[in-house]
Amino acid sequence: MKTIFSGIQPSGVLTLGNYIGAMRQFVELQHEYQCYFCIVDQHAITVPQDPKQLRQNIRSLAAFYLAVGIDPNTATLFVQSEVPAHAQAGWILQCLSYIGELERMTQFKDKSAGKEAVSAGLLTYPPLMAADILLYKTDIVPVGEDQKQHIELTRDLAERFNKRYGEIFTIPEARIPKVGARIMSLADPLKKMSKSDPNQKSYITLLDDAKAIEKKIKSAVTDSEGTIRYDKETKPGVTNLLNIYSILANKTIEQLEQQYAGKGYGEFKSDLAQVIMDALAPVQEKYYHLMESSSLDDILDKGAEKANQVANEMLKKMEHAMGLGRNRG
Ligand code: TYM
Repeated sequence: MKTIFSGIQPSGVLTLGNYIGAMRQFVELQHEYQCYFCIVDQHAITVPQDPKQLRQNIRSLAAFYLAVGIDPNTATLFVQSEVPAHAQAGWILQCLSYIGELERMTQFKDKSAGKEAVSAGLLTYPPLMAADILLYKTDIVPVGEDQKQHIELTRDLAERFNKRYGEIFTIPEARIPKVGARIMSLADPLKKMSKSDPNQKSYITLLDDAKAIEKKIKSAVTDSEGTIRYDKETKPGVTNLLNIYSILANKTIEQLEQQYAGKGYGEFKSDLAQVIMDALAPVQEKYYHLMESSSLDDILDKGAEKANQVANEMLKKMEHAMGLGRNRG
């Protein structure tokens, strides 16, 4: 059975972008692959986090994984900092990375642009992500489009290691959904939807209620043409809404264009708000239930135990291959 690894940062409430770009793939694939899903808290601290809030976000993200449908009996769900091999392997891979290639990462450029004090961790985050993936002999990494470059770097690092020290790593591949790999901001459809956007109207969170969703969709930027038509270049706002609608209602773009031929944005938007709510309502119900139950800790304990076993084995191989330690067999 092939192996899947993916991670999400516990840095706030999840957005519809996280759900459509990443989590829906996880649920769809979990029974065909051996799966590891990680709450990457060490990635989250590349920017300052409030400790109390971070701890809550970790718990909340675990509940979201389960609420969207991850089955903890088949998939391994765990917290990154509870598996020390990630940081250890991350250090080794940092030593294999060139500063130039890390500085070329678009996410680093975006997140550091215009800032005076940028943590070194923001620059060296991709080798930690590579460690996450490579420790589990991962074949496939399901992610949204913004992570593609990091996975290409992971492949480069794995190949570099294999060439210098012996073939120990599996070379992973990104799996990016055909539709919905990049859900755009509702306020500026040329920008990615992101939970770190200061404009709260630009994104929908998985915990938004019907009223909030309706308001945000109503105020979503479209254009003055007035027709519901898919065109990335000239109608990025409507195209983004069509993508969201198509995925959540399981209808093709053509079906939707036909359904709304001759109709205005008002009706389209109010139907879309309903479609989003219908998709999120069951997730929210399960989420609130899980947050109150004690099962989360048991699941994460079991997940960390399994992940530690697998990750330590690969870490040992890495250290041995490079000549670290005293080789006491
Ligand atoms: P993060 O936490 O920013 O996002 C989690 C997942 O959600 C996807 N995503 C989106 N997809 C479509 N449209 C959007 N607007 C959108 N916003 C976010 C992301 O592509 C991602 O799949 N570095 C990673 C976390 C990570 C990881 C890993 C992922 C750490 N180690 C190992 C895979 C494998 C990150 O910051 O994702």
